Amino acid sequence: MAALKAFSLFSLALLILLLLPLLSAHATNPPNSLDKKTSPFEFLKGLHGCHKGNKTKGIQGLKKYLEQFGYLNYNHSKNHTHSNDDVFDDLLESAVKTYQLNYHLKASGTLDDKTVSTMMVPRCGVADIVNGTNWMHLGKKWHDHKSHGSFHTVSHYSFFPGNPRWPPSKYRLTYGFVSGTPTAAINAVVQAFQAWASRTHFTFSQAPSGARPDITVGFYSRDHGDGYPFDGTGGTLAHAFAPTDGRFHYDGDERWSVGAVPGATDLITVAVHEIGHLLGLGHSSVQQAIMFPSISQGVTKGLHPDDIEGIRVLYNR
Ligand SMILES: *[C@@H]1O[C@H](CO)[C@@H](O)[C@H](O)[C@H]1NC(C)=O
Ligand SMILES: *[C@@H]1O[C@H](CO)[C@@H](O)[C@H](O)[C@H]1NC(C)=O
Ligand SMILES: *[C@@H]1O[C@H](CO)[C@@H](O)[C@H](O)[C@H]1NC(C)=O
Ligand SMILES: *[C@@H]1O[C@H](CO)[C@@H](O)[C@H](O)[C@H]1NC(C)=O
Ligand SMILES: [Zn+2]
Ligand SMILES: [Zn+2]
Repeated sequence: MAALKAFSLFSLALLILLLLPLLSAHATNPPNSLDKKTSPFEFLKGLHGCHKGNKTKGIQGLKKYLEQFGYLNYNHSKNHTHSNDDVFDDLLESAVKTYQLNYHLKASGTLDDKTVSTMMVPRCGVADIVNGTNWMHLGKKWHDHKSHGSFHTVSHYSFFPGNPRWPPSKYRLTYGFVSGTPTAAINAVVQAFQAWASRTHFTFSQAPSGARPDITVGFYSRDHGDGYPFDGTGGTLAHAFAPTDGRFHYDGDERWSVGAVPGATDLITVAVHEIGHLLGLGHSSVQQAIMFPSISQGVTKGLHPDDIEGIRVLYNR
């Protein structure tokens, strides 16, 4: 831990030196605009206390938020009436409850303090629920059942629908970076690959020049053509695709750091998370797991037994 702290201090200097090219690409953002006020999730504050029956400006934004992360889909409901308005209806209430279950909050369906503050934490852009099945919570139920009705709750990793994974011929994966990726980010991602390699059957190496890498990493802003636009500073931080796609995108509008730096997000922590997606893991409801969807500024996190168990189960190891 002490070594990690020393590393963080050292990398603060690195951050300033090496992330300059990245930061200057967004010089239109004065440093003070990087505070919470600019977060795309800020609107949630105005919904504090809302519950079923309320009609409050901003509820439409809450619907978009819960749609984006897989909790709400008016297309699957017979009643489309409120898909685009500020009415807090039954469907929205049940989506809020599902969200609360996954984040260990009281499943009241009301936007209480804890629900609002949990929703506002910057997070991964990948949905928690893909195609309607809430594996983030089902895993937990399954464990409860196995423990013969005891109330010992065990949360769980998840996979993408259909359990996509790399074939055995692809356990040695190659990676490459979009040109212009800052050296600090390259080093961070390499360190994250090493973390996974040391605990799984995968190995990772830089693709030889001219060869097509299995995994590509780069920084992108706003709409960047893959159907999952980033949202400026705060909000979603990064996303990656299920096997065997190999794309891993950082949001270039974030304030990035190497290590725990107040007001910034750790490149390594986010890389360890996104590599989990690249290998086939979905989000976990275990708060300490790297695959938990959100990450606060100024903190670092590493692999957790839940993440490793997920990979072992997915690959029958
Ligand atoms: C929600 O509705 C209740 C009445 O049911 C009202 O007292 C409250 O002020 C409303 N809250 C908001 C945030 O609109
Ligand atoms: C709902 O359907 C509309 C029109 O087909 C589509 O544009 C939108 O992306 C769908 N929304 C969701 C959450 O699937
Ligand atoms: C849709 O929901 C609204 C209010 O929630 C209700 O008034 C309306 O009757 C519903 N329509 C159908 C077809 O269920
Ligand atoms: C979601 O389900 C639909 C229909 O069941 C299917 O066509 C689609 O491929 C699924 N998407 C994913 C990501 O599995
Ligand atoms: Zn994620
Ligand atoms: Zn992208």
